[in-house]
Amino acid sequence: MTLQELREEAERLRVAWAQGLAGAASLDELEALRVKFLGRKGHLTRLLSALKELPPQERAQAGRILNALKGEIVGALEEKGREIEARERERRLAAERYDFTLPGRWRPLGHLHPLTQVRLEIEDIFMRMGFDVASGPEVEDDYHNFEALNIPEDHPARDEWDSFYIDDVHLLRTHTSPVQIRVMKSRKPPVRIICPGRCYRRDTPDATHSPVFHQVELLWVERGLTMANLKWIIEEFVRRFFGPGYEMRFSADFFPFTEPSAQVHIHRQGGPWLEIMGAGMVDPAVLTEVGYDPEEVTGFAFGLGIERMAMLRWGIEDIRLFYQNDIRFLSQF
Ligand code: DAH
Repeated sequence: MTLQELREEAERLRVAWAQGLAGAASLDELEALRVKFLGRKGHLTRLLSALKELPPQERAQAGRILNALKGEIVGALEEKGREIEARERERRLAAERYDFTLPGRWRPLGHLHPLTQVRLEIEDIFMRMGFDVASGPEVEDDYHNFEALNIPEDHPARDEWDSFYIDDVHLLRTHTSPVQIRVMKSRKPPVRIICPGRCYRRDTPDATHSPVFHQVELLWVERGLTMANLKWIIEEFVRRFFGPGYEMRFSADFFPFTEPSAQVHIHRQGGPWLEIMGAGMVDPAVLTEVGYDPEEVTGFAFGLGIERMAMLRWGIEDIRLFYQNDIRFLSQF
């Protein structure tokens, strides 16, 4: 091959390359083109290896011609590659575009059961006042549910708590008071706890009775506590849970585990008196039973019904609504 022939061949290649490039519309086609010209058996590669057939004095010049062509091809490949990429990206984005003029779509989400909402709120109120949240088993034994709470076997007060017995000693707890016993037996005073939980009584369901219901028990035992401290706690609770403007009334009651015992009522001007809880000073017999010295420490306790709190707050008149899972009821809270 002569220099002249090589020059002409290079010129033909440039034309063929320009045509090929103009026709390449995708990255794949571009790559095919690259292989065709620059690949191991490509046109330009072939021509480059023909260099050695030239007389040595012509090689340098021929080399410059071919290298210039190679430079052009490489540069054009890169540029076209970027162009195609940009165009493909545009096309992809256009295909993925959201139509923000369409109306949004609502997905319904569940929410906490009203009883759970009330429980969490009560926990929150007392945790802020420095109470721990404690819990105990729902399957209790006779000792914790009754005996240790100063309600002996044949005590008539047992009739107040119609129980589900599981065997001779185990029953579904009828109140959260047994947690008082468990906590006091496992800790030294001072004790300041609340225990929310599920309770069971053998009651026929009606508007105000459910065989399953929830209570929150409160217990504070420490040196020097009096009924005045109990009164403050309850007032504070009523203000935070029901809001301001309530009057409070204690009336005498009886619970075997408290002495004195009281029934707490609240009312707002013009409204009826509403019973909200049973309360009292922990009976010395209970303190002794758990190993505390009633000469050293005193305590008070109360027990309230979560259902009752929810019914008072929202004006709900039938406790069974909480357990019927009727979405028309539940979705109101
Ligand atoms: N355990 C009682 C019940 O279920 C409620 C109660 C009354 C709890 C007085 C107390 C209390 O802690 O001091 O009927």
